Amino acid sequence: MTMPTTERGSAGLRDHLAAELARTRARSAALTDAIDDGELVCQHSRIMSPLIWDFAHIGNQEELWLVRDVGGRDAVRADIDQLYDAFKHPRPNRPALPLLDPTQTRRYLSEVRCKVLDVLDSAPLEGRRLVEHGFVFGMIVQHEQQHDETMLATHQLRTGPAALQAPTPQPQRSRNLPGEVLVPAGEFTMGTSTEPWALDNEWPAHRAYTGAYWLDTVPVTNGEYQQFLADGGYDDPRWWSERGWAHRCETGLVGPQFWYLDGRSWWRNRFGVIEPVAPDEPVVHVCFFEAQAYAAWAGKRLPTEVEWEKAARFDPATGRSRRFPWGDEDPTPAHANLGQRHLQPAPAGSYPAGASPLGVHQLIGDVWEWTSSGFSGYPGFAPFPYREYSEAFFGGDYRMLRGGSFGTDAAACRGTFRNWDHPVRRQIFTGFRCARDADPGDLT
Ligand code: AVJ
Ligand code: FE
Repeated sequence: MTMPTTERGSAGLRDHLAAELARTRARSAALTDAIDDGELVCQHSRIMSPLIWDFAHIGNQEELWLVRDVGGRDAVRADIDQLYDAFKHPRPNRPALPLLDPTQTRRYLSEVRCKVLDVLDSAPLEGRRLVEHGFVFGMIVQHEQQHDETMLATHQLRTGPAALQAPTPQPQRSRNLPGEVLVPAGEFTMGTSTEPWALDNEWPAHRAYTGAYWLDTVPVTNGEYQQFLADGGYDDPRWWSERGWAHRCETGLVGPQFWYLDGRSWWRNRFGVIEPVAPDEPVVHVCFFEAQAYAAWAGKRLPTEVEWEKAARFDPATGRSRRFPWGDEDPTPAHANLGQRHLQPAPAGSYPAGASPLGVHQLIGDVWEWTSSGFSGYPGFAPFPYREYSEAFFGGDYRMLRGGSFGTDAAACRGTFRNWDHPVRRQIFTGFRCARDADPGDLT
């Protein structure tokens, strides 16, 4: 877990970093050990890398930053850098590259890791912003966790018998929640200048304003989404943006990805298991355009990124912004469905202990949430430590995703964390909740 690292001594910090690296590698190993070599090297979808590319790329990033930069050591494999440079080879081209095979990849990753643990024993953890509070080690942990979530999405796209297992979530659940809460107009502090492992796009803390708005207390569920389908929502251009309707027609969208209509009931394929769609669960595998259309049908809209973060962090009682909806403590299993403990979101209204001061549930974990905002830097943004993490994507065809999913690790999730993807993407574990402007008469 990403405890505020300022509270640890150097030995404690080093132990924590080693533990986070090991815990994360265990997840990558489980995702890649679950299937045979043939399935590791093949491409399950043209929009994804072969799993073996992600795996070796994880090791290559670790080598670049921790072995060569921080450690000042010789390269382990300088000859493979360009193969695993995401900017050099688009995903559809990756299977044809002369990639390391699974045995070579596993050997490469353990060789790199062995050197990293040596570097971690002796490298200074102060004097340079890159290493302060172990930032660059945290960045590499987050990078691996992000690729693990990407690999999990590749598992969802793969066909064939189930390869991953996890228990069904059975958390505490609030009953009779109001459908929406009113968030008052005003400024709050967005972003951070203190979170030690926050990535460059979360910096710096700054004041942001919103008018008063209503926000759904829980994400939109499969049951609610089915009403939109049953009402002919996919055949009615009134609900769709112009671009969304064109996309819906070109690609023949009829419902969320991985859903199948059998007679009058919807079934889904969830990591290789065919099962009835669970009506209480947040909907997942819808693109931005589908989310936007549902919201319009419901007489609402998607929240902006600022509105999402205000709901997740602003504490009206103190005027402060919290690290998480529930406070400043790192997530526990009582707060949120994170870390691939489960392979599905928990029913809407789950995790009352993780609710915000205004009573908004499941902002963190379960499903990423589409917002209506594009990607740009906060006022005073500076790329750190490399342009290609965030800045290279500013102004592109992306929408911001917030809050993390059941497949997001706590190390790569917090109230300030910003994710983004193309508005057509559906393989990611993304759903949404709706917002609407408050009328002057709503204000008490
Ligand atoms: C922030 C999740 C969009 O996966 O493309 C991984 C994270 N950056 N390697 C991605 C990332 C470089 C990134 N996302
Ligand atoms: Fe990467």
